[in-house]
Formats: sequence, structure tokens, C-alpha cells
Amino acid sequence: MKLDILLGLQWGDEGKGKVVDVLTPHYDVIARFQGGPNAGHTLEFNGLKHVLHIIPSGIFHQDKMNIIGNGVVIDPVIFQKEIESLEKMGFDPTKNLFISKKAHLILPTHKWIDAMLEEQKGEQKIGSTLKGIGPTYTDKIARNGFRVCDIIAPDFLDKFAVIYKKHSDLLIKNSYKPQDDITTVFTDWFNALQTILRFKLIDSEYEVNDYLKEEKKVLAEGAQGTLLDVDFGSYPFVTSSTTVAAGACTGLGVAPNRTGCVIGIVKAYCTRVGSGPFPTELFDETGEQLRKQGHEFGSTTGRARRCGWLDLVALKYTIMINGVTEMVLTKADVMDNFDTIKICTAYQIGEETTDRFPTEINADIKPVYKEFKGWKQNLSEEKDYENLPQAFKDYVAFIEKETGIPISIVSTGPDRSQTIIRA
Ligand code: GDP
Ligand code: IMO
Ligand code: MG
Repeated sequence: MKLDILLGLQWGDEGKGKVVDVLTPHYDVIARFQGGPNAGHTLEFNGLKHVLHIIPSGIFHQDKMNIIGNGVVIDPVIFQKEIESLEKMGFDPTKNLFISKKAHLILPTHKWIDAMLEEQKGEQKIGSTLKGIGPTYTDKIARNGFRVCDIIAPDFLDKFAVIYKKHSDLLIKNSYKPQDDITTVFTDWFNALQTILRFKLIDSEYEVNDYLKEEKKVLAEGAQGTLLDVDFGSYPFVTSSTTVAAGACTGLGVAPNRTGCVIGIVKAYCTRVGSGPFPTELFDETGEQLRKQGHEFGSTTGRARRCGWLDLVALKYTIMINGVTEMVLTKADVMDNFDTIKICTAYQIGEETTDRFPTEINADIKPVYKEFKGWKQNLSEEKDYENLPQAFKDYVAFIEKETGIPISIVSTGPDRSQTIIRA
């Protein structure tokens, strides 16, 4: 079997969590490959709403295995809270969740360094979730990181002391004083390591490759979105991991020739949380309507998400980078009562019109829009694609024609059941 990959094609929050949950019955294993608790993946079913941060979105299907891959960064305290909350709901995640020994750990000092660096950036701040993501990946790349396997290493405390000293020297040098009580924070962090040790710690690269050899179906779950990728996103307003399909190879230890379908999740409009360029952003009543009707407030930080029209220039770029083979369109239902819906088909930059996504995205970019008549009908009630309004089907057909990629699933609401899988 080949590894299928599911990821976001915009700036995150496309509805990845919901779609992974819907697809899990078709897979044996769901494996997260990058990011950490900066992610917030929302799942809704049986009147229940749940947001996952580090744990893969297949966890509610108890007969399916879930893996936190080596590319993920784990905050033990947030992980512990996620586990406790699942246990309160009657689930026993120790049975269907394994953790890579090579995943890196977020220390409280990483979070303080994150806050310190953001503060120093002033107006240029990234709008980070302040979960310590950037500093943890920085330590990983600089070969100073602290991994899950270190928790059980005999020299655990020595390793911890080295990294702690490095961090505290940096914080002191910059006169950064954490708001939290240091002793309490570290006591909680050390206690939370015990929760990680309740799980089977694995060499996830062997595990995943073995599953594939045994003809088991494995889905790699991405976090964030391609436009937040450290290489291909709107740098420096990006996250610190490889959010694109190639990240599934490095984040799980699967060779490129063992990958299969790449399922790209696309929201029917665009949102972005945090700073950075956003060519189709709306600052008017329509933007407000998208935010309100789409409940566009961050799943992790509660911040209002910036909203704008669907951007095909950016979408074609992210499809290319990821080798997307099929798309899932989410949240079109949010625009059910819109008279007019727009899609950006090109950028006008000075005298030039282009459909290429530029490296430098600045205020000179003017989106060129194509207008569509709204379908003015409730999509969420419908189960059969053929019965959906023609205006909506025309809108879908236009996106497919422009991108050359089929939209195989249409999500028409936050609930698991509000999903139309096209034949
Ligand atoms: P993720 O980070 O990509 O998993 O997305 P988030 O969970 O952060 O944000 C997506 C939000 O939209 C969540 O509140 C979902 O419950 C919700 N959602 C997902 N799909 C749909 C959909 O098709 N329609 C509507 N109205 N809401 C959706
Ligand atoms: P999911 O998986 C949306 C954004 C932050 C900030 C930038 C860097 O739920 O789609 P970081 O905390 O990584 O230093 O933040 O990236 N960001 C996200 N935006 N969805 C996410 O994840 C995000 N994870 C990070 O808002 O602009
Ligand atoms: Mg999210």
C-alpha cells in the first residue's frame, strides 16, 4: 500500500480535522507528521464538538491506530490535557495511540522564548500561537532538541540541564521575565512526562512502513496549511515546519515512492489568523459576514480569523507544490445566503496580469475576480450531490476546470454527517 496524505491548501483551518474523521473508517492508521499544539482540528459528531491539537483526528474511531510521528513537536502538558479530556469522554487512547520516540518535546522555556521573540519583532510580529513551535523546531535543527526518547534515557536529567541552561541564559540576556511561576510550570511539565510514558513509544518509521508492507491503509494528517510552510508559505509569516506533502515523508520516515493520493482540503473562501500578506482579504461587510457565518475564530487561540475570497492563484500554486490528486471543498454552506460569490483568478501587479504566486506578496497586488451568482439555498440538508443547486455545481465545476483537480468530497457543515462523497 502507499501512504495517502491529507493536508490544507490555504493558511490552515480548512477543516482538516473534520475530513480526517470522516475518512478514518476507510483507513487502518492515521498519522500526524508535523506541527504541534499550534494546530486546532475540530471534530463534530453525535452532538459533540471536540478540538484536537496534537492527537491525530482518527482517535475517536477506537478500532483505528493513531500515530504521532517524528515530525511533530509535543507539549507534554497540552498532551496530558488532551488525554484527560478524551478519558473523561469514556475513550481509552492508550489503546490506539502510539508516539514516535523521535518526536521533539516543547519545554516551557520554548514558549517563553517564543513570546520574547514575538515581543522583539514589534510591528513585524508573526502572530504566532505562542505554543513554542518556532523555538522547538529551531532547537531540533540546531541539534539541541529534547526528544521523547530522552525521557527514558539514563542521562535524561543531564540532557535537560544543558538545554535548560541554554534557554535560561538566553532569556536572562534579553531580560525576559516569564509571567508564570517557574517552579509550578516545570513541576507540571515533569508530571506530564509521565502521561507520555503511559503510551507505547515507537520507531514510527518502522511501524508505518510495516503497516504499508502489510497492505494496511495509512493516512498522513497534516497540520497548518501550505501557505504557512516554512519554505513555500508567505515567509517570514509562516510556521516552522514543512507543512507540504514532502513533510509527510520526513515527518513519518516514508520514502517519496511509497506515497499515494494527496488529498488537499480547500475552504470555499480564504481565512488567515495571525499576520502576513493575504491578497484577497476583505475588510468590508462581506468579510464580516464570512467571519460571523463561518464562526471564523481560532480553534487554538480564539482569535478572529481574517477572511477573504477564494484565491485560485494561491490554490494552483499549493496544488503544484503538493502534487494534489483530489480536493475536498469545505464550508461553501457558509455562503448559502450570498447574492454574489467571487473567486480570484489572477493577480494584477502594475501593468502585468499573472496567475503565478509571487515570492514577495505586497500591497501592489490587485486580485482579478470572476463573479458567480449565489445559490441561495441551504446546502447542509442535502445528501446527494446531484440534487445540489445548479449555481453551486457550476461553482464547483469552475474550480475543477481551472485547477484540473477533481473535488471528490463536499463538506456542507461541521458535523461528520454533513458530508457528500461524490461517486
Ligand atoms: P482544521 O484546523 O483544518 O482542522 O480546521 P478548524 O477545526 O480549525 O476550523 C474549521 C472549522 O470549520 C471548525 O469549526 C469546523 O467544525 C468547521 N467546519 C468544518 N467543515 C465545515 C463545513 O463544511 N461547513 C461549516 N459550516 N463548518 C465546517
Ligand atoms: P491548523 O492545523 C491556522 C499560524 C499562526 C501564525 C503562524 C505561526 O489548525 O490549521 P506558530 O504558532 O506556528 O508560530 O504560528 O501560523 N498558525 C495557524 N493558523 N491554523 C493553524 O493550524 C495554525 N498553526 C499556526 O496563527 O500566523
Ligand atoms: Mg485549525
